[in-house]
Amino acid sequence: MTAERMNGKELAATKHAEMKVRVSELAKSGIVPGLAVILVGDDQASQTYVRSKQKMCEKVGIHSILKHLPADTTEEVLLSHIDELNNDPEIDGILVQLPLPKQISEQAVIEAISPEKDVDGFHPINIGKMMTGEKTFLPCTPHGIIELLKASEVQIAGSHAVVVGRSNIVGKPVGQLLLNEHATVTYCHSRTVDLRAITTQADILVVAVGIAKLIKKEDIKPGAVIIDVGMNRDENGKLCGDVDFDDVEDIASHITPVPGGVGPMTITMLLENTIESALNRS
Ligand code: GUN
Repeated sequence: MTAERMNGKELAATKHAEMKVRVSELAKSGIVPGLAVILVGDDQASQTYVRSKQKMCEKVGIHSILKHLPADTTEEVLLSHIDELNNDPEIDGILVQLPLPKQISEQAVIEAISPEKDVDGFHPINIGKMMTGEKTFLPCTPHGIIELLKASEVQIAGSHAVVVGRSNIVGKPVGQLLLNEHATVTYCHSRTVDLRAITTQADILVVAVGIAKLIKKEDIKPGAVIIDVGMNRDENGKLCGDVDFDDVEDIASHITPVPGGVGPMTITMLLENTIESALNRS
């Protein structure tokens, strides 16, 4: 058996075409969705992510602005930029690219963003709503993973989903969204004693730890659905995930490639949240 590739790039392209139509409908009532991205410092990976987000915005007709601040920006200055954007009627979504330099508290920044403009879905109010299953902005990577599973007609309800990684951005919320979809969820992390004993029980295995090719064929159950959130470089400098794709490909039933799997879905869900926010303009 060769695993079916879950093509995030293709699903993202389909969704972009739909969003373009929604954005042109909104334009008829004089609304252009607006996204503000704040980047602090010169981290190369962050700059690449931010550029991709802006490029995609442009493609679907979302107006995006970038505030690129120096690495020594104080928390106070950053908070004043957020305050200004919270009060800007043309801005529907605010995204502060993480990680931030160490003089700035990420939590303080996340909590300063108006929950109505928190298109990342990181604000504690939105996280609370996600946990209770209320409609709200969902974190983009976890939401993109659920969309990809549904588009691939993977049965989530009743499955055993194992999440490796417990970050606030991916691991914790993806487990919650899988639970909301009626999976039985187990979290694994760096202190998990026997990782393999748990990952081999997974019907759906989500790996988000940032360790190149951590998961091998011995770590998965035959027929498992594998979601690889990793974005690493292998020993030859080639992009690779947290899962050893070539090793597990013949054992898994479905797998997300890296690149072209989860990544494009993250940006897509960000655009959807921004359009949704524009629709809520009063
Ligand atoms: N850094 C890595 N992923 C993300 C994300 O989804 N949102 C933000 N704001 N920063 C990130």
